[in-house]
Amino acid sequence: MVSCSRLSSTVENIAHCWKIGYHSQVFFGPCAHQMDLMFMKVLVTGTAGFIGFHVANYLLARGDEVVGLDSINDYYDVNLKYGRLDAAGIARGEIREGALVQSTTQQGYRFVQMKLEDREGLEALFAAEQFDAVCNLAAQAGVRYSLENPRAYIDANISGFMNILECCRYFDVKNLSFASSSSVYGLNESMPFSTSHNVDHPISLYAATKKSNELMAHTYAHLYGLQVTGLRFFTVYGPWGRPDMAPFLFTSAAFEGREIKVFNHGKMKRDFTYIDDIVEGVVRVIDKPAQPNASWRGASPDPSSSSAAYKIYNIGNNQPEALMDFIQAIENAAGREIPKQFLPIQPGDVPATFADVDELVADMGYKPATPLQEGINRFVAWYRDFYRVGRD
Ligand SMILES: NC(=O)c1ccc[n+]([C@@H]2O[C@H](COP(=O)([O-])OP(=O)(O)OC[C@H]3O[C@@H](n4cnc5c(N)ncnc54)[C@H](O)[C@@H]3O)[C@@H](O)[C@H]2O)c1
Repeated sequence: MVSCSRLSSTVENIAHCWKIGYHSQVFFGPCAHQMDLMFMKVLVTGTAGFIGFHVANYLLARGDEVVGLDSINDYYDVNLKYGRLDAAGIARGEIREGALVQSTTQQGYRFVQMKLEDREGLEALFAAEQFDAVCNLAAQAGVRYSLENPRAYIDANISGFMNILECCRYFDVKNLSFASSSSVYGLNESMPFSTSHNVDHPISLYAATKKSNELMAHTYAHLYGLQVTGLRFFTVYGPWGRPDMAPFLFTSAAFEGREIKVFNHGKMKRDFTYIDDIVEGVVRVIDKPAQPNASWRGASPDPSSSSAAYKIYNIGNNQPEALMDFIQAIENAAGREIPKQFLPIQPGDVPATFADVDELVADMGYKPATPLQEGINRFVAWYRDFYRVGRD
């Protein structure tokens, strides 16, 4: 974990971490130097994607070394994925499948285009790099697309995740965190959604793969001593966000004067979570790997923890917003009204999400807190800038 040689190059990064409010998890410990800073080498998968891009940036800013991995698939506009990579110093022209590319702007960042399903490629990467921690954010995301192309979810989320688990097992990486999803709550109606609730009733194959990841992770924690934490994200939004999700779709419609589809006739509630709040949670979990729960009992098994080093957290804003208020926030930020078509709920969708984050607060000492209008203002400002629109 100690990376003595990178000490001098990270002084600026530490200053940056303090500036952006991150200071609690910078470790000091003995080393060959009189005093050294302990940084990790982290494999972050999905770094051409929305959340992975932000997580990698955060880790790099505080001085960790990051290897980013992504297949750069075309589930949505690859130009946005290359845009994120470019913003992290990885030039599109340099990317070759299976080859590590050094960032031109961040010394500690290298990127490889690779599929999670590429077992040999992944094994070679793990053997060469000896990661301290793995944060698996790569996945086939999206509820609705899982009705169209279910096999993509089995390939990426089941076979791919299996390869991550096996590599952690054989290359002795104990610290594994991974993205699960609020969609695992499926037919559950008891609100707020708690990680102690049973989640055996998913209503999309996407959700079923995420729940499967949790089961697979528990098995590896029990059998091989991996310390595994699964994070159930609740509708994440913010700069560099996903084009298939409502915040992006509504914003693009606002600037293009298009009508939007408002499902369940607007009677939906979502616990929208700002990207910085998600990143904060992910990084705290990387810094504090799961531990066995000494008070866990098989006679009354709590689903969120275990006698093994396994833990599940919700990361949500703990404040569901009515869909119509959310649309209003976008209209405010964009300065224009969006024409609306009201439709019934779509198969696979749930009418409401609401995260219980008590365990996150208790164990990680923080709570997502970005107010909706503030987060939306930042997202719309990024959108205007990136797509050069709405500057009238
Ligand atoms: N954004 C949200 O609101 C949200 C909510 C719940 C869960 N999640 C989960 O969080 C994680 C990150 O989501 P995101 O919003 O950044 O999605 P994203 O689609 O922007 O990022 C995922 C990245 O993974 C890559 N990828 C897909 N299949 C791959 C494969 N087989 N091998 C390697 N790379 C592959 C994609 O190219 C993409 O860049 C995902 O696991 C997603 O399921 C996201």
